[in-house]
Amino acid sequence: MRKEELEEKRNKYLMPCYAHYFKDTLLIERGEGQYLYDNAGKRYLDCFAGVAVVNCGHAHPYITEKASEQMQYLVHISSLMLTSPMVLLAEKLAELTPGKLNRSFFCNSGAEAIEGATALVKAYTDNHQFIALRSSFHGRTLMALSLTAQQSWRGKGPYAPGVVFVANPYCYRCAFKLSYPSCGLACAEDVERAITTCTNGEVAAFIAEPIQGNGGVIVPPKEYFKTVSEIVHRYGGLFLDDDVQCGFGRAGEWFGIQNFDVEPDVMTLGKGIANGLPLGAFISTEEISRAFKPGQHFSTFGGNPVNCAAGLATIEVLKRENLIANSRQVGNLFLARLKELQEKHKSVGEVRGMGLIIGIELVKNKKTKEPYPQGLLQILEFAREKGLLLGKAGPLGNVIRITPPLCFTAENVEEACQIVDAGLREIEKGL
Ligand SMILES: Cc1ncc(COP(=O)(O)O)c(C=O)c1O
Repeated sequence: MRKEELEEKRNKYLMPCYAHYFKDTLLIERGEGQYLYDNAGKRYLDCFAGVAVVNCGHAHPYITEKASEQMQYLVHISSLMLTSPMVLLAEKLAELTPGKLNRSFFCNSGAEAIEGATALVKAYTDNHQFIALRSSFHGRTLMALSLTAQQSWRGKGPYAPGVVFVANPYCYRCAFKLSYPSCGLACAEDVERAITTCTNGEVAAFIAEPIQGNGGVIVPPKEYFKTVSEIVHRYGGLFLDDDVQCGFGRAGEWFGIQNFDVEPDVMTLGKGIANGLPLGAFISTEEISRAFKPGQHFSTFGGNPVNCAAGLATIEVLKRENLIANSRQVGNLFLARLKELQEKHKSVGEVRGMGLIIGIELVKNKKTKEPYPQGLLQILEFAREKGLLLGKAGPLGNVIRITPPLCFTAENVEEACQIVDAGLREIEKGL
């Protein structure tokens, strides 16, 4: 079907809330590795990966083979009967996840994982109060949205009670106007102040993404989570790590939180764990998992054999193709090249990231740090014309989000940086 006809049908039948990137609709027909192809056959280098999902690359032949093979035997039976892929995947996750995390529950998405994990935490602690970070993003279901602190995602409410938001560890725009490390990690200390002033002194959990993705690729100081986790434990609460976006190799380790020298009590996963098939999970320690009695939690499609077979194949591919080490190495190269562009360009306030989750914060002026959201929209369009797909992030709408498939190469980095360099020159004409 022609693009114009599809657009007409889209305008008639899809809800208007669908907001496609780009003024001229991009119709993608095919993907392979780190490349996408539109309806005219034009090739794009993908720095977006379907919002940080397709970590092993588009249409990976082995994952496709394993998922299709499973489809020939059994597509769905529900977790009310035993199937092997979900059990085997839970075993693998117990091996891979840090610390004592060893019990998995499977669902369909990141938001559903957050709903389940927060319910489990409430059942375990017998408390409903959460500490969450400003600029967080945890999904669009009620509890997930109640823990999300970005105006653009929040509607009129009402939201779940008991959520207290604290300043995020965002050194570039520190809420306390301090600098790291002389700040003494004031943002972490503020968690204790929040507990002692905004709660009854007991909490269910502190929840955070290891690196805020949608919130603008915010990388906390190394010791942040350890400090906060100790504080929360002192008040009887748990540390709930939302690794939906950073997990499965994106931040240069199996899980983003492994960059921070701390063990979470509960972890949520989604996005990359089945390389594009819808699969979410939450994982806890043995003891915490027992807070849900048999039959207390359920998801019709959760643990679906096809998606779990894809999850198992994803783990195999990440290992066999060394994609996590690649994410670290190529990510370091990407960061270094982009930092050179930061030196050279007046519109680049900061480049930050870990592995292959990288943000470029655009400003109109480096001294005042006035955000430059118009520049972001312009550079996304410019890059698309040149065959490069970038993402956007940040509550101020001014962060280029770079989350390519983890098979990205040094040559891809060079190609992407040349286009970003030229794009920055373009958007700086208006400054
Ligand atoms: C950190 C984080 N948590 C949760 C979610 C929600 O996941 P989903 O869109 O699959 O519901 C997202 C999605 O972007 C996310 O980035």
